[in-house]
Amino acid sequence: MASTYDDIGKGPAIFLLHGFPFNRTMWRAQADFLSSRGFRVIAPDLRGLGANVTETASDHELKSESPATMDDMARDVATLMDELKVEKAIICGLSMGCYVAFELIHLFPSRVIALVLCGPRAQGPDEAEKKSREAQAQRLMAEGMDFAVQSIYTTLLAKRTIDEEPDVVGHVRQMVLQTEPRGAAAAQRGMGMRRDYSGDLANIAVPALIVAGSEDGVRTPEDAEFIKRGIEGSELVVIDDAGHLMNMEQADVFNDAMLDFLRSQYRER
Ligand code: MLT
Repeated sequence: MASTYDDIGKGPAIFLLHGFPFNRTMWRAQADFLSSRGFRVIAPDLRGLGANVTETASDHELKSESPATMDDMARDVATLMDELKVEKAIICGLSMGCYVAFELIHLFPSRVIALVLCGPRAQGPDEAEKKSREAQAQRLMAEGMDFAVQSIYTTLLAKRTIDEEPDVVGHVRQMVLQTEPRGAAAAQRGMGMRRDYSGDLANIAVPALIVAGSEDGVRTPEDAEFIKRGIEGSELVVIDDAGHLMNMEQADVFNDAMLDFLRSQYRER
């Protein structure tokens, strides 16, 4: 699968894995900030999303069954690491990107130096969630992305962001509307098939930072606490006045927290 990605700066490599239904541009503020502070920042579009869209899959194939699984996406990231000659990296994901990060460290533990998990959830889908994701996938295929924009105002962003950050709201809106519905449907199906990562947490032996938005309408505080309890020695930072896209909504606070974590890791080496 051809991949599209940004690759900026020099230094220890950090992969930034976006959420759903977004693309690599959601990490713009982090790419600029971290690349100017001695890190190499690589932000790919995950399978079927952003500009990473296959030309070949027909509508019929997608309607019948073609999930883009979290395992597929993790293997795509590992392939990109090979192509870019990055043996090991810090892996930072947001939401769906965290599912991919969990798969990546499970499949290739020696390639992950540290984890930054933003708006993560470890538990797998129950039957209701699986059904809801399949219904969403079918709706995306039938109607396109327009209906997904509503979530910006209901669950994704904090009130302050909606009231005071029109550029962030506009950027999120643009990412959602530019997403290829077939890729979004495939990712929804892939998330509906994801493993339960709860049992993986105790095996994660790298430093981990968990970041939560205080007003995240997609995740609960318990989701983050559960992961903090599961990964020994992990840290949790809760960002005020931020929702599910806390890295965009409170970019300065997020960047400082991430840099503190990264610097503490490099000091301890
Ligand atoms: C995301 O932001 O990536 C999604 O909310 C993930 C999900 O639907 O579980």
